[in-house]
Formats: sequence, structure tokens, C-alpha cells
Amino acid sequence: MSVNLKGRHLLTLKDYSKEEIIYIIDLAADLKNKKKKGIFEKNMLNKNIALIFEKPSTRTRCSFTVACIDEGAHPEYLGKDDIQLGHKESVEDTARVLGRMFDGIEFRGFSQEVVEKLAKYSGIPVWNGLTDEDHPTQVLADFLTVREHFGKLERIKFVYIGDGRNNMSNALMIGSSKVGINFVVASPKELWPEKKLVDECERFTKISGGSIIVTDNIQEAVKDADVIYTDVWCSMGEEDKSAERIKLLSPYQVNSDVMRMTGKESTIFMHCLPAIKEKEVTEEVFEGNQSVVFDEAENRMHTIKAVMVGSIRG
Ligand code: CP
Ligand code: NVA
Repeated sequence: MSVNLKGRHLLTLKDYSKEEIIYIIDLAADLKNKKKKGIFEKNMLNKNIALIFEKPSTRTRCSFTVACIDEGAHPEYLGKDDIQLGHKESVEDTARVLGRMFDGIEFRGFSQEVVEKLAKYSGIPVWNGLTDEDHPTQVLADFLTVREHFGKLERIKFVYIGDGRNNMSNALMIGSSKVGINFVVASPKELWPEKKLVDECERFTKISGGSIIVTDNIQEAVKDADVIYTDVWCSMGEEDKSAERIKLLSPYQVNSDVMRMTGKESTIFMHCLPAIKEKEVTEEVFEGNQSVVFDEAENRMHTIKAVMVGSIRG
């Protein structure tokens, strides 16, 4: 069965099949290759794309912007002080207005409900550029990077270390369970992912053949890992939790001992960025030769481009 994503939202990878995820990664690899050769197909010529940002961003904002321009579309940045979303105007009304003018909407903010409402009311494709719960476009870039490195996703041992209940941990667990990755969360018990989400992802692994382990034992978690991944200890909006998180997560810092404990020299280090060095990761690991963090950052653009082209061109 051939994949067609025309008109589709990307709110969470829970809504996508393995075939659809692989289709986006394949399309991203193709568009990346073409861009390196100077070939621009202008798959979104004359389209207008709204970029709503309630939270700050470097990679996601720049990826959507550059991808739009590469494909012939116009990106319009709408920051939190530029529009009335959810304050002086309901999300439903803003969604319907934008839907009359634009061809697609990216939303980065706090609530998953808001991105769902934009999708429900706008009548155009809506893409989640990060919420408190999820970060699906980051996972697509991460999987493209893993596949470029290892040539496959199935059976890769992917270990996420740190805040096990944040948007990155959730999104990676969802994506991994869909594509057949063996996913491990190493986190203190206080920060384990919600059981409901783990159960849901375990159901996805029954189809994909992947697996999920949640543990507080870092040594067991990282043994034989192909990928070691971490993220900030305090996500955007949680800055007041800093002291508590440092206490809980200091034993989970990714340092050269952790990289050695995998027992493999081929293990790669990944981070969605921005990174706070000497907190969740040491400078040594971040700058070391196992780190692929800037390939990952570049791949945000190619995969976001593929998501938009898939939804708009089909
Ligand atoms: N990884 C990521 O989403 O980065 P930004 O917050 O800079 O967009
Ligand atoms: N968990 C981080 C991810 C940043 C890309 C945050 O939400 O701040």
C-alpha cells in the first residue's frame, strides 16, 4: 500500500504507522540529497505557512523557515506577543481565521490540547513544533540521524537518560515503539514516564517488534547501547524546579564513564539541544568523537521539510 500524507496533521507520532514514519524519513533523505546537489523542487510554491511560537526556539523556528523558503513557500512567524491566541481570542477562532489565509500551521507551546484544537478547527495541516507532552518533529530528525549512522532503525538499542517524563522522553518512546527500536528510559523513579503512555507504547511494540524498558539502573540500561540520548533537566517552563532536578538527576549525567559502560566504541551520543554542559552532559562527551549532535540539528530542517511537503504536496 503506498503512503499518501496529503492533508495530514502531525500532532504526535501515535497517529502515524511505521510505514508513514519511514516514508517521511525517506523523503527527508531525498530532499537533503537534492539540496546538497543544488536541486530545489519548490514543492510548496506560493503556499503560506503560519509559525506560532509561545515558547522560544532556535532549531525548530529556523528549520520551518528555511524549509519553507527552500520549497517556495512564505513562512510567517507569529510570536506569543504578536497574536491573541487563547487570551483575547479563543484558539478555535484564531484557528478558523488562519485556516482562511494559510496552507499550514506550525505550533510550539505549552498545551497539547491547543495544537489539537488548531488541527480540529483550522481545516489545514497542523504540525506540532513541541508541547509540554510531545516533540514529534525532533524524533524524525533523530531517526534520520540514527539511520544515516547505522543504516537501520530496527533493533537499535536506544537509551534515553534523564527526565523520563518530559516531552523528549515521551516522543522518543512513542516513535521507537512504532518503528521497532529497543528503547530504554534510565531515570530516577520520581521522573519515570506515565504508566498509561508506557502501556500504550507497549501495544505499538506488539506490531513493530520493538521493546520498552524503564529502569533507574543506569549501568544495566546503557550496556550494549547503540545510542545514548539526553535532554535538559528542566524543560521550558520548569525553570523553578532546578534545585530539585539537579539533586535527582546528577547521578544520571552522561559523562565518559557512562559512554564507556556501553561496552561499545560504536555508541553515538545524541541530544535534541539546547544543551547545558556539565549538567546533563559533560563538555567532553558533547565535543567528543561519538557525538552527532550537529548532524541531528541539521536533520531537523530536512525532516521538517519532508513533513510539510508530505502534508501539502502529498
Ligand atoms: N531541539 C529543539 O527543538 O530546539 P529549539 O528549541 O531550538 O527549537
Ligand atoms: N525538553 C526540552 C526540549 C527542548 C527542545 C524542553 O521542552 O525545553
